[in-house]
Amino acid sequence: MRVRAAVLYGKSERLRTAGFGKRCERTHDGGSIMNIYKVLPDLSNERQMRLWHQGIRKQWSAEDIDWNAPRRIGGEKIRDQLGRVLTPVLTGEQSALYSVSGLIPILGHESKVPAQFYLTTWAVDEARHTELFARYFGRIDREPLSIRKFPAGFLFQSRIISKDPCEWLTGVLASESMAQVVSHELRDLDLDPVLSDICAGIIEDESRHLGFNHIYIEDQFRDMFAADPEGAETKAESLRARMDHVLEGVPPIINAIRDDMKDLGIDMDRVQDILDRVARHRLDKAIYSGKDRALGTKTSLAEPEIEASLQ
Ligand SMILES: [Fe+2]
Ligand SMILES: [Fe+2]
Repeated sequence: MRVRAAVLYGKSERLRTAGFGKRCERTHDGGSIMNIYKVLPDLSNERQMRLWHQGIRKQWSAEDIDWNAPRRIGGEKIRDQLGRVLTPVLTGEQSALYSVSGLIPILGHESKVPAQFYLTTWAVDEARHTELFARYFGRIDREPLSIRKFPAGFLFQSRIISKDPCEWLTGVLASESMAQVVSHELRDLDLDPVLSDICAGIIEDESRHLGFNHIYIEDQFRDMFAADPEGAETKAESLRARMDHVLEGVPPIINAIRDDMKDLGIDMDRVQDILDRVARHRLDKAIYSGKDRALGTKTSLAEPEIEASLQ
């Protein structure tokens, strides 16, 4: 099928009949180019479409939280501590919103429309998480630490950002896994009903994000292994190196909040250990699932025991 494509150069527009690429390019005043290759998007990726529908159906609002629930954390000390330990959490939520939003046009540019659909819900999730923690700082009457006072959280997030969806998702795998583990710990501690409700909601959202993360990386590696097994192995190695690089950014955060977390009842060395094992395992699982689907092999990976309790 040949499609008509509109090309805008600055303020003037001309139409052309696109050939092979079926490409619609649009620039505004010499700005960035929007590429849409098909008018009718390919929505055949069933798993990604399923997650997109789930992502829409499971939406909730910060307004659903009972912010007037009686406070259980009246003391100055515990509120100071929560202010410090929740600083990297709020930084993480805000960075996630920033990076998910940035990936949406990139996936559109690559005609990965079901993934693009899903990321619109992911962005809403991270916006909600950002709002929840921002409001929670109001509840405890504390301010998060500044970037200058607590650079580790910001530097960790900087390691994650990438315009390559697979690279970004690898870094995100580390940060989402950390959010998941810390949310479990805080929910189980049950320090404050509002914080527990926030964490319970976030755990559900994060499990969708991790689900998408797996499916997307698996699909990419299925295609890469089918087309170029050697290139796929090289890419897999580069993602493992990226995971190492991102995880190396975690200890400075842990060190900064270890004592406060210990006082609150959370062992951060345990969190670090779980994170190291779970994040690397999840990346390998996605890569090998893609490889197995492309080559008809069956790779068995030992699952970290903790994985089951995080589901
Ligand atoms: Fe989040
Ligand atoms: Fe998330």
